[in-house]
Amino acid sequence: MIISLYELNYIDLHKFIINIFSIMSNRLFQNHTLKKNQNFLLYNSDLYKTFKFMAKRILTGVKPTDSQLHLWNLFWAIKPFLKMSEENPDAEIFMFLANMHALTALHDWNAIRNNSINIVKLYAACGADLNRFYIYNPADIPAHAQLNRVFSCLTIMWTMERMHSYKEALAKWNAWTISVWTFNYPILMAADILLYDADYVPVGKDQKQHVEYARDFAEKFNREYWETFKVPEPLIDSRVATIIWSDWRKMSKSYNNYIWLLDDEKSVLKRVKQIPTSTQTVEEPKNPDECNVYQLCKLFLTPEEDEALRAKYLNGGLSFKEAKDYLFEKIMETLTPIQKRYAEISDEEIIKILKKWKESVAPIAEKKVEDVYKKVGFIL
Ligand code: TRP
Repeated sequence: MIISLYELNYIDLHKFIINIFSIMSNRLFQNHTLKKNQNFLLYNSDLYKTFKFMAKRILTGVKPTDSQLHLWNLFWAIKPFLKMSEENPDAEIFMFLANMHALTALHDWNAIRNNSINIVKLYAACGADLNRFYIYNPADIPAHAQLNRVFSCLTIMWTMERMHSYKEALAKWNAWTISVWTFNYPILMAADILLYDADYVPVGKDQKQHVEYARDFAEKFNREYWETFKVPEPLIDSRVATIIWSDWRKMSKSYNNYIWLLDDEKSVLKRVKQIPTSTQTVEEPKNPDECNVYQLCKLFLTPEEDEALRAKYLNGGLSFKEAKDYLFEKIMETLTPIQKRYAEISDEEIIKILKKWKESVAPIAEKKVEDVYKKVGFIL
């Protein structure tokens, strides 16, 4: 009896020391990263700023809810991600299909399947190096589901109830139409991230809370069960990612203000013509910052071209028709090479690449699940 009490105390004391140590090491680790990366405000970062990571693992998921990607995705997700990967040639880039996440809302096997293939193809067409990026399908790797279940057992309902995404879903739809995994969505995400000891997770602002949950979960698990997971750092683009169109909203399928990367000339032209402009006459000087057409043009222009266009607006004499023609030309200049490359890649190639990378990443995930299973007491 005395011995077991003594042992109990010893274990508690041991846990206590581990806790203090892990808290301190996390703090030290964070200070260290922040110091090293003074130009880069993690949590509020501008992904366009030149920034070199130490050789690290960067992980992100792409959700195949739509059949395509649009211009907004190109400028605010794909380009910054590719730029970051180029600037960090030593970093390991993990990119996976968040198809289980898509299934929480999209119940159409054909759409999930085709969208998944299309999205990888589009990333490749936009310049993602499929021979460098670890790009995989988590459905091929049971460890995602296994870790996900353990996390579900260890997470209290209240944590999920606080999530903005769930609250938004509740506000938008009836509770009886929301799936259990819409509620648990952050758990699904945390498993994807923590399985691979990701250092950095580039996400949109709307996903910040989910990555914070993954961090909290990792810290909590590490405290309770010994150091197991790396605490990931979210990278959030601080630029205002809205495209003014008919409203100050981002480009989105639900607002019907999108231009798909695979749209043909006719569709692009139609969209461009729909952009609302003011009633100012041709001669009148115009403020470019108040013009929807200029806002979109700006995305495509070099600093010199931008300056020239601004001058045209400010000097007067520029018609909105002319500005729209210029925008159309610039959009097609960007889209044409993407569409050409897209057409050259076959579905079979994409499936082969996903399978190939699965072979490299599955062992990492399996090892992590084995470690977790041992720690929680599943391995007898
Ligand atoms: N939830 C993300 C989105 O809607 C996609 C995603 C799923 C993800 N799992 C992830 C992103 C893990 C980063 C890390 O865009």
